Amino acid sequence: MSRHIVWQTSGVTREERERLGGHRGFVLWFTGLSGAGKSTLAHGMEALLHARGLRTYVLDGDNVRHGLCSDLGFSEQDRRENIRRVGEVCKLFVDAGVIVLSAFISPYRSDRSFVRALMEQGDFVEIYCDASLEVCERRDTKGLYRNAREGKILEFTGISSPYEPPELPELVVESGRNAPEACIAQICEYLLANGMIP
Ligand code: PPS
Repeated sequence: MSRHIVWQTSGVTREERERLGGHRGFVLWFTGLSGAGKSTLAHGMEALLHARGLRTYVLDGDNVRHGLCSDLGFSEQDRRENIRRVGEVCKLFVDAGVIVLSAFISPYRSDRSFVRALMEQGDFVEIYCDASLEVCERRDTKGLYRNAREGKILEFTGISSPYEPPELPELVVESGRNAPEACIAQICEYLLANGMIP
C-alpha cells in the first residue's frame, strides 16, 4: 500500500448505524466441503433473520466468483486471495451494521484465522458445516465430484485439494446428518443465547 494513502474517518460511527438499525453487525462464517450445505444454511438463516426485521446480506462463493473474484481460480494462492477479499468486504458490511452470512469453502485454517483477526472481538462466528466427503459426494448436487473424480476438475476440495476442519469453531452443525431446519434452529439459539440478535 502506498504511504500516500490516508485513512478517512466517517462522521457517522458504527455504533450510530447499529442504533439506527436496532441491532449489531457481525459475520456468520459458514465453512465446509462443497455440498456440505453452506449456501442452504446461509440463505435459510438470512430468511429467518430478515423476517425478524434484521438487516442481512449473503456473500456466497459461487456468486462472488462471478464478479469481485472472477479473476481467481482454485489454487491455494487464489483461494487465499478470495478469502482475503471476502474478509475485507465482511469487515465493511459489519461496519455498516449489517449481519453478513458468508458461505465459502474457505479450506485453510490460516485464511479463516486471518478473517477472524480482521474483525473486532465477537464479530466473527465460525460455523463448521460438518458433512463428510462421503455424504457430499453422494449428494453431488452440481455433478462436480463426478467431474473431479474423472479428472475433469483439478484441485477439487476433498479430492485433490485439502480441507482443514476448524479446531475451535463457535458452532458445529451436523449438516451431513440433520435437516437444514434443525441446523438453522441451532444457529438461531446460539445467537439468542449470546445476545447477538434481539
Ligand atoms: S474457496 O475454496 O473458499 O475459495 O471456494 P469458494 O469461493 O467457496 O467456491 C467454491 C465453489 O466453487 C465451485 N468449484 C469448486 N469448489 C472447490 N474446488 C474446485 N476446484 C472448484 N471448482 C468449482 C463449487 O461450486 C463451490 O461451491 P459450493 O457451494 O461449495 O459447492
